[in-house]
Amino acid sequence: MVWDPRGSRYSLISHVLSECSARPRRLEGLIAVRQVERSRWCHLAVVSLGASPFPSDVGLQVVQALKHKGFGVICYEDGAQSWPLGTRCHVLLAGSRWLLDSATAEFAQDLRQTVAHLLRAENARRDEEDSMKGLMRKLGVVGESQAMLAVFQTIVRASPLSDLPVLITGETGTGKEVMARAIHQLDPKRRNGPFVALNCGAISPGLAESELFGHRRGAFTGADRDRKGLIRSAENGVLFLDEIGELDHALQAKLLRVLQEKRVLGVGEDQEVPISTRVVAATNRDLDELVRLRKFRADLFHRLNVLSVHLPPLRERVADVGPLIEHFVAKYRFLRPSGAFAVAPDFVDALMQVELPGNARQLENLVREALVQKEDETALNLRDLPRDIWQQLSARWERPSIPSDPADVGTDIQVSALEPLRHDLPASMLNVLNLNGWNLSRSLQHCERLLLEAALHKAQGNQSQTAHLLGITPRSVYNKIHKHQLPH
Ligand SMILES: Nc1ncnc2c1ncn2[C@@H]1O[C@H](COP(=O)(O)OP(=O)(O)OP(=O)(O)O)[C@@H](O)[C@H]1O
Ligand SMILES: [Mg+2]
Repeated sequence: MVWDPRGSRYSLISHVLSECSARPRRLEGLIAVRQVERSRWCHLAVVSLGASPFPSDVGLQVVQALKHKGFGVICYEDGAQSWPLGTRCHVLLAGSRWLLDSATAEFAQDLRQTVAHLLRAENARRDEEDSMKGLMRKLGVVGESQAMLAVFQTIVRASPLSDLPVLITGETGTGKEVMARAIHQLDPKRRNGPFVALNCGAISPGLAESELFGHRRGAFTGADRDRKGLIRSAENGVLFLDEIGELDHALQAKLLRVLQEKRVLGVGEDQEVPISTRVVAATNRDLDELVRLRKFRADLFHRLNVLSVHLPPLRERVADVGPLIEHFVAKYRFLRPSGAFAVAPDFVDALMQVELPGNARQLENLVREALVQKEDETALNLRDLPRDIWQQLSARWERPSIPSDPADVGTDIQVSALEPLRHDLPASMLNVLNLNGWNLSRSLQHCERLLLEAALHKAQGNQSQTAHLLGITPRSVYNKIHKHQLPH
């Protein structure tokens, strides 16, 4: 893609691009910028900025829009080499790492080298992505979003480091156990050993020590035989400690010793036994905060957090909703042996738009429930979703959107429903808390979305004015609009 509204360098640029075996296409107007999508065949943009651009200038808005769509962006302008540092930082912040001076004699050569570099990088990235997707399919890990691919890439890199613990964080239902099992499968030293899972929140405090570390016969009343405990059962494999944030304080100290010394001492035993087990821990709590509150030992936290993997909530990777639905439909097909269920687009769209605080697990429950309750053999559709989902959707679309101005890529924000926030504050807050299962961080995110919508509404969709009103940068407004998936 080439954005060169003045056309001053277009023929030179298209010549260079053709030499690099790329087929240039000129973007005519801002509507074209908005409509263009990144694809396997279209992923590179060359953008003219205009003299000394500011963030609100069209050139940088174009860079931002294309970067957000995943394009690699090369910027150029006559005299760019002598721009002040601040101006060059505007370009970096907008999302382009390359700024070429089109007035220099070396411009064509610089452009050729940069394009060749980006094409090579794109090929390598695509190969890696393809092999990653193949591996994910093999392990039953579903995900198409860039966020999920990045998580899986971390897993692939962390897995062979067989002796290092991994800490997986993420909201409930985001797939932490799925990832722990993937680590086990991808760890060459552990994959033939067992995968032993322990829910630290579910073990009874009285029995926890012997369950984890084992005991000798007669160590306490009821211990009528030796027991090796879960840690030793995971010998040569992976011990998955789910909900590690719930682990009792006394056991935290013992677990720390196991991690440090790689030896276990069972209850009533007098000799420690060496072990070779990889510990993968998971939590949906904020362990940092628990450490600050002294509810979790800082030393254990640092021992566990050697390799860390964070699973983003489903609302930050809506591209995964459709593939997960397909996956769950296939998983629960046996519930309806007579029907070969297709999935209608409104079923997927609805689930992409609602809050799913229980993430993939909630999605799984909704799909299973829809299959069980379905009375006909048509494709799964909006009617098959429960009432509270309809209510969420209808609340979102209560108010009409302000039509967008297609002529301006920077101000084309439609304002979606403003929920009751402005009318009855305390009741609205209760509403927000209810909708988010009384989870503070999700409720705060929800409030942020409502406040952003209110400010956008006041600024009639103008992002720069919204930024001014809220006292944040236009880039923050742009990022938040995308984070909350407000229509734009
Ligand atoms: N990426 C994924 N691919 C396939 N299935 C997934 C994925 N993520 C989650 N699931 C499914 O969603 C459900 C919840 O996943 P999982 O138990 O791994 O979540 P979790 O983060 O451990 O949840 P919790 O914090 O409540 O323990 C499981 O049935 C799992 O198979
Ligand atoms: Mg879990």
